[in-house]
Amino acid sequence: MLRRMILVVGGAGFVGSHICKSLRAQNIEHLVFDNLEKGHSQAIVGSQLAVGDIRDPATLERVFADNDIDTVMHFAAYIEVGESVTDPAKYYRNNFQGVLNLMDAMRNHRVEQFVFSSTAAVYGEPKYVPIDELHPKDPTSPYGETKWNVERMIQSFGRAYGLRSVALRYFNAAGASPDGSIGEDHDPETHLIARALLAAMGKVPPLTIFGTDYDTPDGTCLRDYVHVLDLAQAHILAIKHLRSGGESRQFNLGYGNGFSVRQVINAVEKVTGMEVPKSEGPRREGDPARLIASSTKIREELGWNPEFNDLETIVSHAWKWRQAFPNGYGL
Ligand code: UFG
Repeated sequence: MLRRMILVVGGAGFVGSHICKSLRAQNIEHLVFDNLEKGHSQAIVGSQLAVGDIRDPATLERVFADNDIDTVMHFAAYIEVGESVTDPAKYYRNNFQGVLNLMDAMRNHRVEQFVFSSTAAVYGEPKYVPIDELHPKDPTSPYGETKWNVERMIQSFGRAYGLRSVALRYFNAAGASPDGSIGEDHDPETHLIARALLAAMGKVPPLTIFGTDYDTPDGTCLRDYVHVLDLAQAHILAIKHLRSGGESRQFNLGYGNGFSVRQVINAVEKVTGMEVPKSEGPRREGDPARLIASSTKIREELGWNPEFNDLETIVSHAWKWRQAFPNGYGL
């Protein structure tokens, strides 16, 4: 029998839940595997869920034994750069050891297709922008290290065991489902757009602008904010690539536009019609001045054609969700 199920590991989180929504819309069979520590079951209504943790090999083993999985997508990572500096063991145990457990289980069950969520953090301090996939990899945090080490492990598994993979290096994932049904609910919320919306609503303290003396047009950092639905499109293309026998690939995902922290705050104020209470503070350690992607490779090779390349659209979708869920999924 043809195995056709995708295991979406960490599928109840921000990015994973939007991928699941796209999979449901396209009737692509899938099973979410999530420990619900950061994820929300309310974000994946309509998808099948198995609750479990990638740090527990026995649970993983059962999921692979019980389901006809042919492809795995992985989103189950800790993502806070600052926390990874103070508690690297936590990051290596989950983001690296957990993925090794997952890949061992895949190997035991001859599952040879893997889509891995990687990050711009693998590049470290940019030597040039826009950053293409060949840019040197020199992560400046344990978070970035775990992601880069997993990418290297995946390549070794490819050479030794025939694993075929697509690593997608996201720049700044943002936005929400345009219908307002699912969105970004992190605790704590550290990401700029989501946090600025909460600050405008008075739900978190005033926003601190981390550094105003960068060598950028307005002195604040530039980031390439990419809509989560455009990330979802890239994941579906990656699955199709692997299922049609495609070779292993690594791709950046961003639009090639850099927006400053001040520009983002302005967009949030314009979209919400509210003021974002804010103050200027020192630089946050490890923040590069500019992180801007070249995504030519995925456009050319997989035909990625982003639909939401517009900062105000990204902010307005995030706002729509936040208005529908002012306290997040927890209510
Ligand atoms: N920022 C502020 N104030 C805040 C929050 C953020 O000024 O309260 C600034 C940051 O200094 C940065 C920009 O807004 O210049 C974006 O910060 P985010 O925390 O939203 O995102 P990062 O660029 O730090 O991080 C993102 C992902 C990480 C990933 C990283 C890759 O969230 O998982 O990109 O570099 F590691």
